[in-house]
Amino acid sequence: MRLVLVGPPGAGKGTQAEFIAAHFDIPKISTGDIFRANVSGGTDLGRLAKKYMDAGDLVPDEVTNAMVRDRLAQDDAREGFLLDGFPRNVAQAGELNGILDELGLALSVVLDLEVEHAEVVKRLSGRRTCKKCGHVWHLQFDPPSTADVCDRCAGELYQRDDDKPATVRHRLDVYAAQTAPLIDFYRSSDQLVAIEAIGPVEDVTERAVAALTPYA
Ligand code: AP5
Ligand code: MG
Ligand code: ZN
Repeated sequence: MRLVLVGPPGAGKGTQAEFIAAHFDIPKISTGDIFRANVSGGTDLGRLAKKYMDAGDLVPDEVTNAMVRDRLAQDDAREGFLLDGFPRNVAQAGELNGILDELGLALSVVLDLEVEHAEVVKRLSGRRTCKKCGHVWHLQFDPPSTADVCDRCAGELYQRDDDKPATVRHRLDVYAAQTAPLIDFYRSSDQLVAIEAIGPVEDVTERAVAALTPYA
């Protein structure tokens, strides 16, 4: 299955990506995670991306597209993949179609995680991420048993720099202006499946797996 996950910041793309990718046994490719790994590794790409990420803006398309092109050319993506956070505007969607065409592949489906504005703001303000394994927690909705320690790997939890309230507001504006039009783009090409991404995490995973199974 070649799957794209879309939805606003805080919709639960990263949370669900982990479970969906494991269920269908496909690699999870998250552009946000790749950028953050480059930031913490101090690479040139990380230095460039950080400026945009801290402001809540999109990293320029030519940088992001080249990174995704390289990643999709790797062997493990031949049999399928889950993209989390890419494409994020209509131009990137066109680029993705071009990359897949060149590889002789096509997208299977786009899953839209629908969540209301007020809920995503709550989710982002309480989010904590594990430095070691990348698992995503929430102080209120999915709390670790000890604050700041990952129950899965004992790694240290941190709050993302772009989860400050002012940056969250800007990311939501960027989503509305640049990413929401993607939903119409994929709906009009009949590639979109939407689910309500509210309620317990495992209920959302069940809904997602049920919606995606016909495309596997
Ligand atoms: P990215 O990392 O992709 O951030 P985002 O799209 O803003 O999405 P988030 O990761 O914030 O939210 P999520 O939907 O993954 O939610 P999560 O599962 O964590 O991108 C960051 C930046 O990188 C961008 O701003 C941009 O600068 C750059 N970038 C990335 N891709 C790019 C691209 N293609 N082009 C250009 N620039 C790009 O969940 C959130 C919280 O909610 C968690 O705490 C979780 O525990 C909790 N939660 C999850 N599910 C539930 C539930 N059902 N009930 C209650 N709480 C829940
Ligand atoms: Mg994420
Ligand atoms: Zn961990």
